[in-house]
Amino acid sequence: MRPPLEGVVLVTGASSGIGRALAREVAPRCCALVLVARRKSKLEALAHELRERHPKLQVLVAPCDITDRIQIDEMLLDVQRAFGVVDVLINNAGFGDMSLFDLSDWDRNQRMIDLNATALAYLTHRLVGPMVERGRGGILNISSGLGLSFLPGFTTYIATKHFVTGFTEALRLDLAGTGVVVTQSCPGPVATEFASHTGNFTGREIPAFLEISAEQCARESLRAFELDRALVIPGVVTWLLMFFHHLSPRPLRRLLLSSLGPHLRQLQNKARTGSP
Ligand SMILES: NC(=O)c1ccc[n+]([C@@H]2O[C@H](COP(=O)([O-])OP(=O)(O)OC[C@H]3O[C@@H](n4cnc5c(N)ncnc54)[C@H](OP(=O)(O)O)[C@@H]3O)[C@@H](O)[C@H]2O)c1
Repeated sequence: MRPPLEGVVLVTGASSGIGRALAREVAPRCCALVLVARRKSKLEALAHELRERHPKLQVLVAPCDITDRIQIDEMLLDVQRAFGVVDVLINNAGFGDMSLFDLSDWDRNQRMIDLNATALAYLTHRLVGPMVERGRGGILNISSGLGLSFLPGFTTYIATKHFVTGFTEALRLDLAGTGVVVTQSCPGPVATEFASHTGNFTGREIPAFLEISAEQCARESLRAFELDRALVIPGVVTWLLMFFHHLSPRPLRRLLLSSLGPHLRQLQNKARTGSP
């Protein structure tokens, strides 16, 4: 079974990073592409580039804050008017926040839950029913390596990505035999705008050997989706880390990570008070 990537594909978070790379990757194959994010100018620039490269491709720029259900409903009406149906939904939009939970800003936590979890589930709910009725379709969810593991300093982000991981695994089982492909991608660090939104009070950079490009992430995610794989971990280094991570017993992982929380608390308090 293959996802109908030759049909109408909707990508959330298409204005930058992995979403933009996913849109560029599917553009030569699909007949129509819906680009969703808040920054209209970025979406228009991408649409212009894609129309130039692929003259037969229809592109709908759909500026939308997907944490707002009313905006989603209006956007989906526009999509319906333009193309009728969506064959493939790529839930990619998301952001993270580096903070110990008690020191974090609630509004950011709420926005992360609204975007990373609620919007993904709502869009899926709106679009998957007709896919099942037609007996063809595809849902590709961009989760995270942190949806398969845990660390201090990212509690709400990790919780939202565990939601995506559990949601996608269970949805795949729900939709078995319906003709709808469900895949999730769980990347480690990817070079995008993500880190600039997440913030970093540690003063440490992500080691270069861990980071992959948005293009590599998009390519490997789509390849797994086309092969109807349940889960892909793009990038060989992250794949190996996750492999060994899952071999180690959970109590051992808890023990190994237990000293990191107090260390991060010291660093975050220093960053907050500005003391050296
Ligand atoms: N980069 C990494 O290291 C990494 C690792 C693992 C997983 N991921 C996951 O990969 C996905 C894509 O992230 P990225 O790395 O490509 O980051 P990015 O470059 O910051 O892209 C995030 C995208 O989400 C969109 N977005 C944010 N808030 C939105 C909203 N309220 N409504 C609609 N769109 C919204 C942004 O567009 P606008 O600002 O224009 O709305 C942007 O297009 C996320 O789900 C992230 O959790 C990233």
